[in-house]
Amino acid sequence: MSTCPSRCPHGSTLTDARTGARATRRTMTRERRTRATVVALALAVMATGVAGGDASAVASSVTSSFQRPDAHPAVPLMRRGRETAETARGTPTQVHLAPTASGEVTVVWTTREALKEEDKTVEYSTDGGREKHYAKATSDSYTTQLCVGNPTAFAPRMGQTPAVDGDALVRLANTSAWADSDAANYRVVTSIEDVIPSGFWSQRPTDKAACLGYSNPDAVYHSPIIHRAKMKGLTPGKEYAYVLPGTTDARTFKAPMVPTKHSKVPTKIAVVGDTGQTEVTQEVLTHVHNALGDSEVLLHTGDLSYADGFAPRWDSFGVLGEFLLKSMPMLAVPGNHDVAQNGMDLVSYMMRYPSPYEASKSPSQLFWSYEVGQAHIIGLNSYANAQTGMFDGSDTPMTSWLQKDLESVNRHYTPWVIVVFHTPWYNSNHGHFKEAERARKALEQTLYDAGVDLVLNGHVHAYERSHPVLNYGLNDCAPVHIVVGDGGNYEGPYGKSWMEPQPAYSAFREGSFGAGSLVIHNDTHASWEWRRTTCVANTTTAETYFRKVGDASTCQSFPDVSAQAMEPVDAVVLRRDVQACPNKAVGSAKRTSDGGTPYVPESNAPSLYTAIIVLVILWLATSVVLIRTLKVMREMKTRMYRSPGLLSGEDEFDDEFGESAIGLKDFNAP
Ligand SMILES: [Fe+2]
Repeated sequence: MSTCPSRCPHGSTLTDARTGARATRRTMTRERRTRATVVALALAVMATGVAGGDASAVASSVTSSFQRPDAHPAVPLMRRGRETAETARGTPTQVHLAPTASGEVTVVWTTREALKEEDKTVEYSTDGGREKHYAKATSDSYTTQLCVGNPTAFAPRMGQTPAVDGDALVRLANTSAWADSDAANYRVVTSIEDVIPSGFWSQRPTDKAACLGYSNPDAVYHSPIIHRAKMKGLTPGKEYAYVLPGTTDARTFKAPMVPTKHSKVPTKIAVVGDTGQTEVTQEVLTHVHNALGDSEVLLHTGDLSYADGFAPRWDSFGVLGEFLLKSMPMLAVPGNHDVAQNGMDLVSYMMRYPSPYEASKSPSQLFWSYEVGQAHIIGLNSYANAQTGMFDGSDTPMTSWLQKDLESVNRHYTPWVIVVFHTPWYNSNHGHFKEAERARKALEQTLYDAGVDLVLNGHVHAYERSHPVLNYGLNDCAPVHIVVGDGGNYEGPYGKSWMEPQPAYSAFREGSFGAGSLVIHNDTHASWEWRRTTCVANTTTAETYFRKVGDASTCQSFPDVSAQAMEPVDAVVLRRDVQACPNKAVGSAKRTSDGGTPYVPESNAPSLYTAIIVLVILWLATSVVLIRTLKVMREMKTRMYRSPGLLSGEDEFDDEFGESAIGLKDFNAP
C-alpha cells in the first residue's frame, strides 16, 4: 500500500519500497498531470481575476466534482474537556493570541483557579532574552446556562461520536439524584427523551435550543478564570518568547508586520472558517500550522467552536486550537454559532476572543479593523444591523463606523483593503443562498466605492470564489468574494447542493474542507490559494478517512490534485489596477509621511499624547507672558514713583521706554 508522509510536499511521490520504480513513474506522471492542471487552472483564473480587463468576456466557471466523504471519526470532545479539568489549578491552558493594536498582541489563557495579583505578570522578550518586557494580566470569568442548540450535537452528520454525551446530559438533568422530593427543582429524568423529546428539533420554531433548568446547579456552567495580558511595544517582524505565570515554558510568536510606505515585503495571511472541533478541524489547523505557519496572522471568518450552547465545548475548542493559536495571532469575526442562536455563545466568544476594536475606534468588539503589512483588514459582524432597523433608527453604529474606517485607509501604506464577515453575499449553494441580501444591499456599494479588493466569508460549508462582482454583474473594479466556511465542523460539507447552472459570478466551487492562503506581493499583485486539507482513500472503514494513508488515486477527480495532499486546488493571482479602477485609489492621504518610516494607525493613545503636549505648550506660553507682564509692571512702578530728589543730574528717565512703550511724558525734558 502506498503511503503519503505526514506532510506531502509539492512534487512528492506516493510510493514505498514495494511499489518500486514503476509506481513512482506512474505517480510522477500523475503529479505532472495534476500540477499542469493546477497551473492551467491558475492561468485561466488569473485571466478572469485581472482587474481592468473585460471580465464578462473571459470569465470561466468551474465546479469541482470532488466530494468530501461524509463519515469520519470525531474528536473525543469530552475527553478534551477533561484534559482541561485535570490540569493543575494554576497551569495555563487554552493559550491563544490576538492582535489588538499596532505593535500589540494580547495573550489569553485560562486557569482553574484565580491567580494572585503578584502572579499575573507575563514576561515577553526578544533577541534571546536580552530585551525583556512585562505585561500585567486582567482576569475574569463568567456563568452561563447549559443548552443544546443543534441536533447535530447528538447525531453528527460526520462520524459516530456525538459532541454532547446524551447519557451525561441525562445525569445532569436528573435532580432527583440529590434534590428533596418536595423541592421546587426536583425532577426525575431517566432518558434523553425527558430532556429533549423526540421531534423537538423538527417542530417550529426550528431555530431554538433546549436548556437545562436554571434552578438545577448542575445546569450552570462556570468558566475557568480567563486571563488577558497585552504585550505592547512589539517590534514588527521580530520573534518574541513569552512566559505565562504558573509555568517556565516559553512560547513564541512573531510580531505582525506594520504598514510601511510603498512596501514590497510580501504579506502572508492564512484564512479559515467554520472550524468547529472534529478530526477534520484538527487536520485543517495542523495544515495551517505546518504549511502556512509563517503567515502574519490567521483570519477566522466566524463560527469558531460550534459549542452550540454547551459551554464546556468552548474549553475543548480552546484546548484543540492551542497548538496553533499560541504562536499565530488570530483575528476573528463572529458567526451565527458565536452570536446568534439566542445569544447562547456570545458571552463565551466575547470573553475569550478579543479584537482590535478599541485601537480602530470601533464601538463594538464585534467589528474592527487592523492593519498588517500591506493590508487594511476590516472585520464586520454579520449579525449587526447594516441599515436602519425598526426600533429607533439609531441602531446602525457599525455602518457609520465602517464609513469612517474606510475613509481612513491610506493606500500608500495599505494598498489592499480586505473585508471579512461571516455570511456571504455571493454564494451559489442552496445552503444559505441570499441569506445576507439585506446587508449586501446596504453595504455593497459602500465597499465598491471604497475600492475594497477582497471579501472573505464563511458560513456555507464549501469553498467558492467569485469573479469581481457588483450587484450580481461582473465588474472588474469590484471585489472578489471568497467563501471558506469549511474548516471542519460537524455539520458536514455542502458539496452536493450547488445551484445549476453555475452562476456567471461564480469562478470556482468545491465541497471540501481546507484553509486559504493569501500573499500580498505589492500594491498591484496578490496570490490566493485554496488548499484542500487532505484527500485519502475512500475506504469503508471510517477510521482511515483522515489519516494520511491509502491510495490517493482512488479519490482523484478533475481538477483534483489529491496526489499532492494539501496542495492548492484553486490558485489565482489577484490584481489591482488603479488606472483602470479609480475606486481602488480611494483613501485618505492625511496619514502619509515621507521616508518610508513605519506607519502607526491612529489610536486613542497618540491623541492623548497630543493633548498633553498642547497643554504643556499652552502652559509654558502663558507663563512666559505672565512673567514678562509682571516684569514690565514692576519696571513701570519703579519709574513712575521714583522721587525726583533721587534723580541725579543726568536724565535717568528712559525716554524710549516711557514714551513709546507706555506713553509716559518726561517732564524733566526741556
Ligand atoms: Fe455559520
